[in-house]
Amino acid sequence: KKVTVVGAGNVGATAAQRLAEKQLCDVVLVDIAEGLPQGKALDLAEAAPIEKHDACLTGTNDYGETAGSDIVIITAGIPRKPGMSRDDLLKTNSDIMKSVVKNIAEKSPDAILIIVSNPLDAMCHVAFEASGFDKKRVIGMAGVLDSARFRCFIARELNVSVENTHAFVLGGHGDTMVPLPRFSTVAGIPITELMSKDRIDALVDRTRTGGAEIVSLLKTGSAFYAPASAAVEMAESILKDKKKILPCAVYLEGEYNINGLFIGVPVKLGSTGIEEVIEIELKDDEAADLQKSADAVRSLVDAMAA
Ligand code: NAI
Repeated sequence: KKVTVVGAGNVGATAAQRLAEKQLCDVVLVDIAEGLPQGKALDLAEAAPIEKHDACLTGTNDYGETAGSDIVIITAGIPRKPGMSRDDLLKTNSDIMKSVVKNIAEKSPDAILIIVSNPLDAMCHVAFEASGFDKKRVIGMAGVLDSARFRCFIARELNVSVENTHAFVLGGHGDTMVPLPRFSTVAGIPITELMSKDRIDALVDRTRTGGAEIVSLLKTGSAFYAPASAAVEMAESILKDKKKILPCAVYLEGEYNINGLFIGVPVKLGSTGIEEVIEIELKDDEAADLQKSADAVRSLVDAMAA
């Protein structure tokens, strides 16, 4: 199997490392910066004898070497700095996304795209339109990361293993994201039965601003270890046809009463990409929050078209 990672920056290079060390595939790292993908790919390859894997790692500025990829993870673009919102990245990153996807679609017409660049849901829209790919093969990474953050905070709050936790965060990848405490569990028990509403609200708020918390600590960029893990979990489910149900940004046409928009909902990921959109029954307030989040995404997509 062959996976191309576009953008050899923090998220891209870390994703390449995880893909190789988990022995999931060969990896091609592409970037416009000359020498950067070559240098990082070579450095990762030189770690292989110690990490004990035989993945082939290539770094390049030439899309020719990406031809025939099964999956392409797109992390190209600028990250935010303190004080910036993800939406501030819209213009720059949509131009980058268009040019990247044009090259990818030409060289790997059958690939499944995993979009990472922000603002996430709008970038999925750009990739969907620029590729002309079926909606089953354009998938945005946001919910897996946001859910992992929620799980991390739940585990710390209750002093239990993160492995005991499960969580769902739906909606757009921004301040309007929708963590669902009713569907977030510890050892199968909903957290609504384990914690007071105030305690849950505090964890929900921290999850919503989880990206900004890291940006303000790092000062020089945004989160990348957990984002890379999240993208690789999605790629693994596709490469191994695991059929994991994960919250991902996908193009909805009527599901959850949302039409013609990328938004985060639970989907089944297998070898053909999105194999099913899972519709869970939401309570009125949860459904209203999801619609509000969809409205925020729609206004960004409209702003791009204007
Ligand atoms: P970074 O700045 O470390 O890396 C970005 C790389 O993209 C750079 O190496 C740059 O040279 C490259 N690049 C720029 N234009 C390009 C082009 N036309 N073709 C190929 N490569 C190009 O940034 P980082 O931290 O890796 O973040 C990447 C993106 O992912 C950002 O937009 C960030 O906001 C987003 N992100 C999204 C997350 C999510 O949950 N969806 C989580 C974390 C980051």
